[in-house]
Amino acid sequence: MDEQPRQVPVNTPLITEDDIESVVTALRDGWVSGEGPIVAEFENSFAQSCNRQFGIAVTNGTAAIELVIHALGIGPGDEVILPSFAIISCVSQVLRAGATPVFVDSDAVTWNMDVNQIRSVITPRTRAIMAVHTYGLPVDMDPLLQIAEEYNLKVIEDAAESHGLQYKGQRCGSFGLVSTFSFYANKHITTGEGGMVVTNDEELAASIRKYRNLAFQPERRFVHNELGWNLRMSSLQCALGTSQLQRLEEILASRRALGQTYQDAFKDLKNVQLPLKATTTSTNDYWIFGLVLTGDLTGKASEVQQTLAESGVGTRPFFWPLHEQPVLKTFGMSTQPLLPVASNLGRSGFYIPNGLGLKSEDVDYVIETVRRILS
Ligand SMILES: Cc1ncc(COP(=O)(O)O)c(C=O)c1O
Repeated sequence: MDEQPRQVPVNTPLITEDDIESVVTALRDGWVSGEGPIVAEFENSFAQSCNRQFGIAVTNGTAAIELVIHALGIGPGDEVILPSFAIISCVSQVLRAGATPVFVDSDAVTWNMDVNQIRSVITPRTRAIMAVHTYGLPVDMDPLLQIAEEYNLKVIEDAAESHGLQYKGQRCGSFGLVSTFSFYANKHITTGEGGMVVTNDEELAASIRKYRNLAFQPERRFVHNELGWNLRMSSLQCALGTSQLQRLEEILASRRALGQTYQDAFKDLKNVQLPLKATTTSTNDYWIFGLVLTGDLTGKASEVQQTLAESGVGTRPFFWPLHEQPVLKTFGMSTQPLLPVASNLGRSGFYIPNGLGLKSEDVDYVIETVRRILS
């Protein structure tokens, strides 16, 4: 019988005994719902870690963005500038609210929004710029914030992937009017599913808190002047989040160590662009370890992923460019604008296993297999 190859999933989360103890304590104490001291503790400690005053825990990073767009009153006639190379979560509520997303391309080396393209797409209808930190490096925030100030635009920072990442020594999640995070299973800090909004704007925080919780009124519960959603995060998830947050620096160090191991192992591969180790403003935290195929392999990410899968190495494709999403047509938008970097990243990029729970023999196997297939 043929021997099955080793299977290395693209993500292997790391849950420690302390994490488990924290959730078990919440259970023992009877704190399970989306209200109470465990939720408040996670919201406060997470907001503090971002140097923000207010934190609102929600069900996931997508909900966090959607609540922000809704609470800011972004709607028909408004335009929001964001990178095409991002997840659908960044644009879904913009579209549902009847506003227009305006996409800019990304930088081919950092894979982040090319901030030099923002100015040329600003119109009198522009309301906000969404900065989406991507795959381990932050957006170049200084020029973006300067443009936003000049044109009086709101800055929404999507830091879903960037817990603890620094730009010029300042934590992601502290830039602009409001920032959002995800705690999905593959994030630096995970609660399985989960998300957070952080801001210093008290009124905005109260509004997001209200819409997260069915828009209950303080005066009379169950009487509604407005509609909200139930997007509360449970105490069990928040207990896990608080426990994980205490290990954030350790987690980042471990991701960086694995990132460096892969950099060294793959540096001589032809036809592969590796992640940038650092910019002048930041050091890559390798939230994921991406490979972009070049030369003869350009555009062939899915074929290479398939070959890796046959050898048991799990991968995930890069984001598919938002400006090419078929769903845009249902909102009357064209899928034509030419944003070549985003289009190429979607076709040539994928990422390899780098979960925090990966064993060293799995890492060795990934290296050996990637090298065999791409050499
Ligand atoms: C940049 C970015 N924004 C938003 C999200 C959405 O977060 P969630 O999966 O928790 O809804 C993700 C998820 O991976 C993301 O990478």
